[in-house]
Amino acid sequence: MKNTKETNQWNPKEYNKHTAFVSQLALPVVELLNPQECERILDAGCGDGTLAVEIEKYGAKVIGVDMSAEMIEACKAKKIEAYVASVTDLPYENEFDAVFSNATLHWVKDAKGAVENIAKVLKNSGRFVAEFGGMGNMHHVVVAMKSVFKNHPEFGAFKNPWYFPSPKEYQTLLESVGFEVAYIELIPRPTPMNDIVNWLDIFANGITEHLSEEQFKVFKNECRDILIETNYTQEKGWVLDYVRLRVEGVKR
Ligand code: BEZ
Repeated sequence: MKNTKETNQWNPKEYNKHTAFVSQLALPVVELLNPQECERILDAGCGDGTLAVEIEKYGAKVIGVDMSAEMIEACKAKKIEAYVASVTDLPYENEFDAVFSNATLHWVKDAKGAVENIAKVLKNSGRFVAEFGGMGNMHHVVVAMKSVFKNHPEFGAFKNPWYFPSPKEYQTLLESVGFEVAYIELIPRPTPMNDIVNWLDIFANGITEHLSEEQFKVFKNECRDILIETNYTQEKGWVLDYVRLRVEGVKR
């Protein structure tokens, strides 16, 4: 089974083997959320529920939603209440004290639909605390992917599946749906990785779904050859140019 976010088929075990850092590095976002006892918090894009478990340690009740049925099963195995749902079509209204989201919203091209839904499900004065890829995220990786597609017309057109907004753009978007932005910051976070090929196996899959196995191999090897110049050193190994957009909005 392919492990793509576009097809919503994420194998939690495979995903976790190379990406445990996704949740580990997000603990400051849980601190920014500052969960309170008995609060109802929606985790939008809850993945396997690792961060929902952290949030419940504060005494809050978390409901997780994710597009992947496999991830929802992994969440339930951790005793987190969770449902398959899209952040652009949330089946709730005015009922959460906070919405939390980590490493999800860069996958949602309908960013306006997402923030409208987040505003809709929050009570008045409810908080929206999120972190995801911001402007410049994975710059070298995206450039390398585009270049490999350009060199292989038989691969077809490169379709970028990600939304990496600037703070200004995202603040304007949040304000347009009734949020007051209490905090917004772009945070460069160079992130060590064992090999770019593992990252491409998990995250580039949606971009390359239409390629044959042989073409996918060529794609990965050529991306690796390009990226070794910018994202690899003998001293540090592979380091990816992650840039986080961290934000807190309050529903007015
Ligand atoms: C991110 O967390 O920034 C990210 C992960 C996979 C693909 C693109 C971005």
